[in-house]
This record gives sequence, structure tokens and C-alpha cells, in this order.
Amino acid sequence: MNTAITLTKSGSMKNSVPQISDFDGVARENMLEALSFNGSKYMSAPYPAEKLTNEQLEQQRVNHFVKRLANFVDYANLLFFEIRDKKGGGDGVGYVIDFPDDLKIFDESRMELARLLERGRFSHRMGEIQNVEDFNLSEMKDCCVRMVLSVFAKHGFRWGETYDESGVPSIKPDYESRRFTLGYYKHHKAQEYLSQYIKSGDTVADVFAGSGIGGAIMACHLNIECVYLSDLRYDSPFIENSEGRAVRPGREDLFRYRPDMNLVALQAVFDLLPHELAPNIFSKIGGFIEDDATKLDKVGSLDIDWVIGEVPFGKNCPVGCQELLKDAVVKGLEISNKGVIFLMPSEWIPKLKTDLGSLSVLIENVTPNLSKANKRAMNYVCIKNS
Ligand SMILES: C[S@@+](CC[C@H](N)C(=O)[O-])C[C@H]1O[C@@H](n2cnc3c(N)ncnc32)[C@H](O)[C@@H]1O
Repeated sequence: MNTAITLTKSGSMKNSVPQISDFDGVARENMLEALSFNGSKYMSAPYPAEKLTNEQLEQQRVNHFVKRLANFVDYANLLFFEIRDKKGGGDGVGYVIDFPDDLKIFDESRMELARLLERGRFSHRMGEIQNVEDFNLSEMKDCCVRMVLSVFAKHGFRWGETYDESGVPSIKPDYESRRFTLGYYKHHKAQEYLSQYIKSGDTVADVFAGSGIGGAIMACHLNIECVYLSDLRYDSPFIENSEGRAVRPGREDLFRYRPDMNLVALQAVFDLLPHELAPNIFSKIGGFIEDDATKLDKVGSLDIDWVIGEVPFGKNCPVGCQELLKDAVVKGLEISNKGVIFLMPSEWIPKLKTDLGSLSVLIENVTPNLSKANKRAMNYVCIKNS
């Protein structure tokens, strides 16, 4: 891109801030093409309007839309191969185990998108449609979202902050949390069921939000007002004491998630899309809050319809996790308007029912088993506020 600027810029850089419209056609084409890979929303603006009739302008907009979408598909394929070949983290932690199922969604969405794009182009050539709006934007957008999330949600790069003993932070790839994020196909399977409960305009708090990816998926798929993300490990474990030294009050772990970075990276991928198709995750994110799911001191001061989350679990999870779940359910019911929805191993449901016996709550198993037959069965469970 720099080469294009130095070689073909027509105006003077001294007197004005350079803009895309300062460049001649070839350079402008080059820049638009190159920048369509850097996630800049600005680049998705239509070409300059002067001297063009409305019809020509619309024609350019359609061309730009089609070109940008084709670029996106190329990029998504690249991303897919890179991530597939990388498999787990450098240290072997977070090995990707669910890829075949997510790959299937990626492939199906890619083919569906290609079909929709081709049909739209054909209709445009035949003069049956004139505008970008006449393409099947809502189905195209669904395909794009599924393509990105199926590759990126569990298998993509994510970030965390580690600290040395004196509290100096450094950003590191977060391989570990990939183990704790659901394969996208499970989210995908659950959305239909969750949307029967979580309704348009609801405000949601994901109180075990970890990497933030689960919350981002909610933001993309559910027609919610917003989702707040909270977890125990969102703030630095260090504070300054009165002598100005970094100390760790009551926290042993030296790691915090960076959901903000994770979501910026995810949004940057979406921003490669024509803006008509790009979801805006941040328009639905209420904020990142460090809170204990069994206390919810900060989240409790917000107006929350549903408390949701994927509780800590796993083969080696101590029995304590079931106690944690019970406490989080009780607290979630206390602070929410409509109730709680937690993902948990199915075998925990009977104990939870017994534990909550005295509460007049309705427990529903809202999803089919989200795991494969040979793995621990997982279900979303909804407990409504009476
Ligand atoms: C199964 S993971 C959730 C993964 C998350 N949905 C994602 O996509 O990355 C459980 C999370 O619960 C958090 N956690 C454990 N105990 C907690 C507590 N008492 N309060 C809040 N968060 C807690 C852990 O830090 C971890 O991030």
C-alpha cells in the first residue's frame, strides 16, 4: 500500500491530510483491495460520488460489495487452514478436539454463502436486482457469522496477561481457555433453544465468561439488548501498596483473561466483511466486570434479565464445583428479573434440584445433550424466577 501512495499520489501531503479520494483510480483500487484485509470499516464506504449518476453509483456499490465479500471468503479459507494446521497451543495445552464438527459448519456455511452470492450476481446481471440491499443480506450475514465463529470461537487465537513476581504484566497467548470454551457447534445447536427463553431486548450477564468468546457468540446470535461479561480473573491480581510496591491481595493466580483483546480480534475479522454483513459485537457488550459468580456484588447493581454461564466443570472437577453452581444459581436468581441459564453436566441436575428444593423454581433442561456419546453429557438448564 505504501508503494501505491508514493508512486501515484496526486495531491500534496504538506497541505492536507491524505484521503483515499486523493488517489487516482489504480491507486485507489490497490488501496481498497489491500485495506479490505486490514479490517478498516472506513474502507467499506462507497466510492466517491461526484460525477456519477445514481445508477452508476449503485453499480459501483454492488461491485465493491461483491469484491469485498469474495476477498473475505479467501481470507476465511486462509484463516481456517492456518488454525487447522496449528492445532493446539505451542505448549500442547488447549489441543483442539472438536474440529470436525466445527469444520462441517464452516464448510456448509461457505458453500451456502457462495450459492447466495452467485445467485445475487446472476440476478444483478439479469437486471432483476439493482441494489446491494436486494441481495439476500440476512442469510448472507448468518453464513458469514457462522464461518467466522466456527473457526475462530474455539480454535482461534486469544490473549491473557501474566505477571512476574513483582507484578510486571506481559501479554501472552491464552492457550488454556480454549479447553474451556465450547466447540462452536454446541453453541450453534443451543441457540434455537436459548432463544425460546432469552428474548429480544433482554439484558444478559455471562457470569463465568472467561475468554469472553461465549458472550460474543450470544451477542452475534441472540437478539439481546446487551451482554455483560464477568469472571473472577478479569482484573490484575496486583495492586500497589502504600509503599508503592505491587502486592497480590488474596489472589494466588498470576493470570487474567483479556476478553477485550479477544473481542477486538474477532471484530477485526468481521470488519473484513462488507459493512452490510458485519456484525458489531461491541454494540451488544455491556462491559467487562471482575466479580465472583456466587456474590455478584457489581453485576447485581445492574438491571439483568438473565444470568447465564458455563460453570467450571471437567473430569477432574472437584465436588466443590457443584456447590459453586448451587451458590451461583441462588445468587443469579436473586439479582435477575427472569432467571438463570447455566450449562452443566447432566448428572449434576438431580442434585441441583434437591439442593434448590425449598425454592419455588422451575427447572428445565433446555437443550438436548450437547456432547458426543462418549463424552460427559452437557445440558443447558434454565431456572426461572417465579
Ligand atoms: C468453563 S469456563 C467458561 C468458559 C467461557 N465460557 C469461555 O468461552 O471462555 C469457567 C470460568 O469460570 C471462572 N470461574 C471459576 N470460579 C468462578 C467464580 N466463583 N466466579 C466467577 N467466575 C469463576 C473461571 O475463571 C473460568 O473462566
